[in-house]
Amino acid sequence: SATASLAGLRVLISAGPTYEDIDPVRFIGNRSSGKMGFSIAAAAARRGADVVLVAGPVSLPSPEAVTRINVRSAADMHAAVMAQLPADVYIGAAAVADFTPREASASKIKKRPGSDTLTLELVRTPDILAEVAAHASQRPRLVVGFAAETDNVEGYARGKLDNKRLDMIAANRVGVAGSGFECDDNALSVFWGDGERALGPAAKTELADLLLDLVLERLADTTPA
Ligand code: PMT
Repeated sequence: SATASLAGLRVLISAGPTYEDIDPVRFIGNRSSGKMGFSIAAAAARRGADVVLVAGPVSLPSPEAVTRINVRSAADMHAAVMAQLPADVYIGAAAVADFTPREASASKIKKRPGSDTLTLELVRTPDILAEVAAHASQRPRLVVGFAAETDNVEGYARGKLDNKRLDMIAANRVGVAGSGFECDDNALSVFWGDGERALGPAAKTELADLLLDLVLERLADTTPA
């Protein structure tokens, strides 16, 4: 049920976007309000879990009884998440930038007279979720990813489940009204080894409890008797 206890579990959650600085006044970022991850953190804490929330730059209040760590860039988020292990459960709900400028300019980049283009060199960021799932000594018992997709939702989500060696992935469709980033509602298609379940459409606050029910089910199924 939506009220089954999570007492005794340490749950580590990432939420929100990351901002990758270009210069002192500009950044590259993803569209994420943090609502999905913050809802999961709030619900987990309400159900008795010991919750750590690593939050990118968002304008949301901290959920009650949650330890919040604010970060800005993908590199910051990576360091904060790794430093908070071990955990029983990791849920990666953040929209982490996949690329960051090779070097942030120390001063504001000026328009060059006569030039209509500007080239930024971007480099890959660490894949936090894949690294948590591959951790040699402190892999959480359950590693849950999110996938934001505009099309082929199941195909891409199952690809990430396998490639990143996750236990479960919650896919949401983005780019359509009423689901994904920034709004209050969402619909999730959750996939694991040989199972799947559709959750919602519903408020993110409600989906959080449904997802945590699935977390408990998967933990029960993967814990040796
Ligand atoms: O914040 P809201 O406005 O409420 O919106 C919620 C949401 C749509 C942002 C959220 O539900 C969601 O889908 N989050 C993941 C968005 C995303 O970036 O997905 P992805 O398919 O690019 O990444 C897949 C997974 O890898 C995610 O768990 C992501 O956190 C993780 N990842 C990605 C890149 C990276 N460098 N490190 C990571 O850990």
